[in-house]
Amino acid sequence: MQGGLKKRLLDLATEPYRYTGRFNYHWARGKLWGDPIFAALLERPMLPDGARILDLGCGRGLLAAWLLGAERLAALGELRDSPAPPAGLRFRGIELMEREAICGNQALQPLHGERVQLRGGDMRDAELDNADVITILDVLHYVSYAEQDRMLDRIRTAIGAGGLFVTRVGDADGGMRFALSQAVDACMSFIQGHRLARMWCRPLSGWIRALEERGFAVEAIPMSNGTPFANVMLIARAA
Ligand SMILES: C[S@@+](CC[C@H](N)C(=O)[O-])C[C@H]1O[C@@H](n2cnc3c(N)ncnc32)[C@H](O)[C@@H]1O
Repeated sequence: MQGGLKKRLLDLATEPYRYTGRFNYHWARGKLWGDPIFAALLERPMLPDGARILDLGCGRGLLAAWLLGAERLAALGELRDSPAPPAGLRFRGIELMEREAICGNQALQPLHGERVQLRGGDMRDAELDNADVITILDVLHYVSYAEQDRMLDRIRTAIGAGGLFVTRVGDADGGMRFALSQAVDACMSFIQGHRLARMWCRPLSGWIRALEERGFAVEAIPMSNGTPFANVMLIARAA
């Protein structure tokens, strides 16, 4: 996506956060501008029109803000030659820090109504039904290996054949870049009020194996461009 268009989408996607306070607004702008995964989700058409997306560990709902912002940009006829974004998406989100889910609802519901429903909760206990796509971006490593395995089992059962699971993980074989990702993750978590806890990371081969063992066909896409990290997006399709 060209710089000018990306900036226009950034403005549209983040404007609603202005009314939830300066920190939330600037957090949303920094993350949506600097994190390559958001642009990548638009550049690679993978989300079907009308999909019901369940975003686990949704934070302030930035994924919903970005994709619904892109839909608005398309409706305004401003996308020019860029691929059309998915239309008619609906988002449910579960977020451990309830105040972040509330912030996301306060920002996005006035504009998008019931298409965005975020709530406080732990993804380990969350109902996973009624979703066509489940996303977990930068969250799985906060729960133990056994809990990760249980989440992957439950996700595979919930989305059924043809469903899509999109996640981003760190590659524990990523050397200095991985070490830096972990340090920055710990700092950011601390700034946002989380206690510093152990992270449960795997090498990329381990993440892919865990998904393939459950019957997912996996595409791994490096997702750190423009950052010094060792992150990978995994697009897992349930066979
Ligand atoms: C690095 S942030 C990513 C937020 C969001 N996915 C994004 O990409 O903007 C990780 C988020 O996961 C949340 N989280 C951690 N453990 C969780 C759990 N067990 N259930 C739900 N959310 C969790 C944290 O509170 C935090 O907001």
